[in-house]
Amino acid sequence: VAVFSAEDYAMMARALQVAERGRGIASPNPHVGCVIVKGGRILGEGHTRLGGRPHAEAEALAACTGSPEGATVYSTLEPCALHAGSRGPACSDLLVAAKVGRVVSALHDPFHGVNGAGHERLRAAGIELDIGLMEAQAREQLKAFLHRVERGRPWVTLKVAASLDGKTALANGVSQWITGAAARRDVHRMRAAACAVLTGIGTALVDDPALTVRDLPPGMTVERQPLRILLDSRLEARDGMKLLMGGNTLIVTSSADEARKQVLRDQGVAVMQAPVEAIKGKVDLAAMLQQLGRYQERGLNHLLVEAGARLNASLLQAGVVDEIVFYAAPSLLGDGARGLFALPELARLEDRIALDIGDVRQVGADLRITAQLQKP
Ligand SMILES: NC(=O)c1ccc[n+]([C@@H]2O[C@H](COP(=O)([O-])OP(=O)(O)OC[C@H]3O[C@@H](n4cnc5c(N)ncnc54)[C@H](OP(=O)(O)O)[C@@H]3O)[C@@H](O)[C@H]2O)c1
Repeated sequence: VAVFSAEDYAMMARALQVAERGRGIASPNPHVGCVIVKGGRILGEGHTRLGGRPHAEAEALAACTGSPEGATVYSTLEPCALHAGSRGPACSDLLVAAKVGRVVSALHDPFHGVNGAGHERLRAAGIELDIGLMEAQAREQLKAFLHRVERGRPWVTLKVAASLDGKTALANGVSQWITGAAARRDVHRMRAAACAVLTGIGTALVDDPALTVRDLPPGMTVERQPLRILLDSRLEARDGMKLLMGGNTLIVTSSADEARKQVLRDQGVAVMQAPVEAIKGKVDLAAMLQQLGRYQERGLNHLLVEAGARLNASLLQAGVVDEIVFYAAPSLLGDGARGLFALPELARLEDRIALDIGDVRQVGADLRITAQLQKP
C-alpha cells in the first residue's frame, strides 16, 4: 500500500481543482486534471479540453516550463492507453517518452480501451507508479462518466423547483419564475456541466423552453451547449418550438409516423426510436437510457432532467434516477397547487422512495437540496 506525502495530497488536490475546468466541455470524455511537479514546483498543469481532446496529461506536458524528465505526474484518472491514431498518441506513451520519474493516479479507468493498460504501460517502462490517492474525491468528480462506463446508462439528475410546500404551479397552471435569478443561473451552470438536458412533451408544449445555456453565474463563460433531448412519444412537438430551432436537439419517440420524422430531420433535428414497454405501452425509459449511454458511439455520461411531474414520476418509477436537485423557494402555494412528482398514492410507508441528502445550501433567496436516491 502506497504511503502518500503531504505534497502528494496537495498536488492531487490541485489536479482535482484543475480538472473542474473541463467539466461539461470534455463531454463525453471524463474531465481529468493533471499536474506535473519537480523539486516541489509545478512545472505544468492541464485539463481535458473541448470535446475530450487534448487529454489532461498532454496539456500538462505541453504547458511544462522546464524539462519533465524525472518529474512526478499527478493525474485524477489512469492515463490512457488508447491507440488514438489521428487523435494523437496515448497519454501513457507521452509520459514514457517524456521520461517522467513517477506517476500518481487517483483512479483506475474502467473504460474498455484503458482498463489498466495505461498503468501497465507506465510500469513496464520502469516508471514508479502509485494508484489510489484521493480516489474517493476523484470518483465523486467523475461519477457520471464512471456510471455510464460501468452500468451502460448516463447518471441521471432530476432538477426540480418548487415552493417550500413542494408545489410547482398554481392549480390554474401559472408556474414560471417560482425561484429567483440566482437559482435560475445555477440551473444554467448545471446545464453547462451536463452532456444532455431532457424534458417531456408536456413541458415543451406548455413552457416552450429553449434548454440552452445562456445565463451563467459571474465568472463563467458559455463554451458549449449540451444536447437537448425531448421525449415525445407521439411526435406532438410543434414547428416553431424553441427546442426545434438551432439544431442540437434529439427527439426520442415511439411513433411510427415516418413522414413526420423526416420533416423533423429535414429541420436538423435528430430522431431516435425507443422501444415501448409491454405493460403500459409507453416508451421504456430504462431502455431509452441504455440507448443514450451509447448515443453516437461515444455515449452520454450525465443527463439533467428538467421535466414536469409526469415524466419525473415515470423516471422515478423506472428506478433510473440517481440524484435530485431540489430548489425550494421561500413561498407557500397552498393545497390544490401542482406537485413535483405525479407518483401514485402509497399504502405502505416501506414503499416510499428513500433519499440521502448530500448537500444543502442557499442560492440567492432559495434553498438548494441535493439528494441521492438510496440504491436497493
Ligand atoms: N418546477 C419545475 O421544476 C418544472 C420543470 C419543468 C416543468 N414544469 C412544469 O410541468 C408542467 C408540465 O408537466 P407535465 O407532467 O405535463 O410534463 P412532462 O412531465 O414534462 O411531460 C409529460 C409527458 O411525459 C411523457 N411521459 C411520461 N412518462 C413517459 C414514458 N414512460 N414514456 C414516454 N413518455 C412519458 C408523457 O407522455 P404520454 O402522454 O405518452 O404519457 C407526458 O405527455 C408545466 O406546467 C411546466 O411548467 C415544472
